[in-house]
Amino acid sequence: MKASKSVDGQPFLFRPEVHARRLNNSARRICMPEFPEDLFVEALHQLVSLDRDWIPTNEGSALYIRPFMFATDEFIGVRPSASYKMIIFTCPVGPYYPKPVRLWVEQKYVRAVNGGTGEAKAAGNYAGALYPAKLAQERGFDQVMWMDAHDFKFVQEVGTMNIFFVIGDKILTPATDGSILKGITRDCILTILRDKGYDVEERPITIDEVVAAYQSGQLKEAFGAGTAALYRT
Ligand SMILES: Cc1ncc(COP(=O)(O)O)c(C=O)c1O
Repeated sequence: MKASKSVDGQPFLFRPEVHARRLNNSARRICMPEFPEDLFVEALHQLVSLDRDWIPTNEGSALYIRPFMFATDEFIGVRPSASYKMIIFTCPVGPYYPKPVRLWVEQKYVRAVNGGTGEAKAAGNYAGALYPAKLAQERGFDQVMWMDAHDFKFVQEVGTMNIFFVIGDKILTPATDGSILKGITRDCILTILRDKGYDVEERPITIDEVVAAYQSGQLKEAFGAGTAALYRT
């Protein structure tokens, strides 16, 4: 997540309690212990208060906050550890992308399968995505647009963000089905759009539908939603 400074110079966090909940949902999926959510939020406040001078104030920049947990048992083998370490580090960041992103629709590799760990913010999901992302970059693309692992037909998400399409007068985003990360920015965008009266649909979206909409001139916009993946000219 990120911390920013308000106009009067006070540090603030964006929805830390929702991040705390997702951390624990993710931990549960990979047999890691849950961390008390109120203690986590309190730790974040204390850390960001200590690091307040590192919060950049220029637009599009923020203090990135990365909690992570790893096993510390002195044991080699496949079983949950009995001990873990939880660390939160911060670093000032600018916009992630200097230009609009070009996405490669992946037809060979997969990020997540139904029943897998796609919905968890687990490091392994990112490790498996590095090589396909490298190949996409070699082809001149910035990131991979992941398809479903069964038919390579349904859009899932992008390496660093959830995805939205504006087709006709509707705003569409893939429904979360257990293999897509439930983005907190995605949730905010859906809430704001519905609040403003837009016609929003969370449902399975095929890549063919997106291509057909593009060809017929109905695809008005496509955008990503994520904490890190900010684009600014
Ligand atoms: C794979 C993936 N999908 C989506 C997102 C967007 O999630 P959020 O809006 O919670 O940052 C991220 C960012 O962390 C991500 O890594």
